Amino acid sequence: MRPLRTRAMEGLSGEVMELGFGSGSNIGLYPEEVTRILAVEPSEIARSMAKDAIENSLIPVDLVGLDGQSVPLEDNSVDNVLTTWTLCTIPDLDAALSEVRRILRPGGAVYYLEHGLSDNEKVARRQHQFNPIQNRIGGGCNLNRKIDELLTDAGFELEHPAKFRIAGPQIMSSMYSGVARLR
Ligand SMILES: C[S@@+](CC[C@H](N)C(=O)[O-])C[C@H]1O[C@@H](n2cnc3c(N)ncnc32)[C@H](O)[C@@H]1O
Repeated sequence: MRPLRTRAMEGLSGEVMELGFGSGSNIGLYPEEVTRILAVEPSEIARSMAKDAIENSLIPVDLVGLDGQSVPLEDNSVDNVLTTWTLCTIPDLDAALSEVRRILRPGGAVYYLEHGLSDNEKVARRQHQFNPIQNRIGGGCNLNRKIDELLTDAGFELEHPAKFRIAGPQIMSSMYSGVARLR
């Protein structure tokens, strides 16, 4: 996934809040224009797995919050936001995107790389069908979110939105990537 992550992060700069920081898989891939990473991650296990990567990171990383639905950062305080494979999992995505809008500086954007609802009707039907199971076994992960629509409905304008498939089970392999800028 590194090439996909790297491509999705092209153009990131300044102070970046990473939603769902996980074990820090993106740390070494940030462009050098990024000056600080503000990590939001609820899982204690993931945070402890990220410890070494954070210590060795060339870009300073601060753990600033535990929940994207309510982030203890000032209004208009970050330049950009990064989210990779996280918007599927946050329970109240509207709340999280409204936090992102509040925290972003004017002109800021969300750089995203996410899996979501397939354009193929047959696959989409199976995604809806399996969603309750995935939700239970996948730590709250949803298979059937229309990431692009959710971002535009939340007031973002999509730049270069891409949809593509990656290898793996069909219900998990419809990808959405792009830059969603504050309107
Ligand atoms: C599939 S993992 C992806 C981790 C990482 N972003 C990556 O690309 O490898 C989903 C992440 O979202 C985090 N998450 C779940 N609920 C969240 C919330 N309310 N706010 C922020 N992150 C959340 C999980 O703890 C987990 O680290």
